[in-house]
Amino acid sequence: MTPLTDQTTLNHPDASILQVTGLTVQYGKVAALDPTDLQVGKGQIVTVIGANGAGKSTLLNALMGALPPKGQSHGSILFQGQAVQGWDIEQRVGLGLTLVPERRELFASMSVHDNLLLGGFRLHRAGVRGWRDTLDDVYALFPRLHERAGQAAGTLSGGERQMLALGRALMARPSLLMLDEPSLGLAPRVVREIFQTISQLRSTGVSILLVEQNARAALHVADYGYVLETGAVVLQGDAASLANHPQVLESYLGLSGARQRT
Ligand SMILES: Nc1ncnc2c1ncn2[C@@H]1O[C@H](COP(=O)(O)OP(=O)(O)O)[C@@H](O)[C@H]1O
Ligand SMILES: [Mg+2]
Repeated sequence: MTPLTDQTTLNHPDASILQVTGLTVQYGKVAALDPTDLQVGKGQIVTVIGANGAGKSTLLNALMGALPPKGQSHGSILFQGQAVQGWDIEQRVGLGLTLVPERRELFASMSVHDNLLLGGFRLHRAGVRGWRDTLDDVYALFPRLHERAGQAAGTLSGGERQMLALGRALMARPSLLMLDEPSLGLAPRVVREIFQTISQLRSTGVSILLVEQNARAALHVADYGYVLETGAVVLQGDAASLANHPQVLESYLGLSGARQRT
């Protein structure tokens, strides 16, 4: 499959934070991810769009080392120049990889504040000085979380919960933040708000790998995109080209009707 644009023109390979080559996943005998190549450049937002069941969560979980026991993954994952395939989750987190999973996995009965502090626990344990200062950055990014600092996480709205999940991930000061469908179950207005924040994160220098069914929102914030269908990348290119590709317009942006009318 020929890329619409050569990603090396967007980011020199040396500047890539994540370089995935021939990554596969099988659940028992069932293949969920065909050999997949993917790159994220430093400071880039890269998106993987695809329908329900395409293999998006499978891909992120394989990168995080968080597949269920019957999930088997092979291939090469270079993160910050290190071959991390075979490393456990803790080691990958230690190198700066963080995943906000599809199930946000917040502690419902704990306060917003305590949920955020837990996100920084590893840095605290590692004796990183000033780890708590990140809290100010997170509250500045999400004033709504600051207002609700003492409130139990379980009482937050869907959008606020997503903000908390993002904020907690940022507390670990990741160099690559992987987001599994941050728009899932949220109203359009809230989706816009979350994606604005994702876009703002660019200025912090964190690289982002974003998987989404909401192709429109994802391609709007991303630099580069991949289209995943039944476990295989079928299309890739810079986000603007992808958003104008007939196949993407028709299958993911629901614009086939518009085309027929013209
Ligand atoms: N734990 C699992 N065991 C077996 N099959 C799974 C498991 N998780 C996902 N799958 C299968 O792998 C495929 C991709 O699923 P998934 O990665 O969750 O897709 P997406 O996140 O794009 O919706 C689907 O066919 C799904 O049924
Ligand atoms: Mg999923």
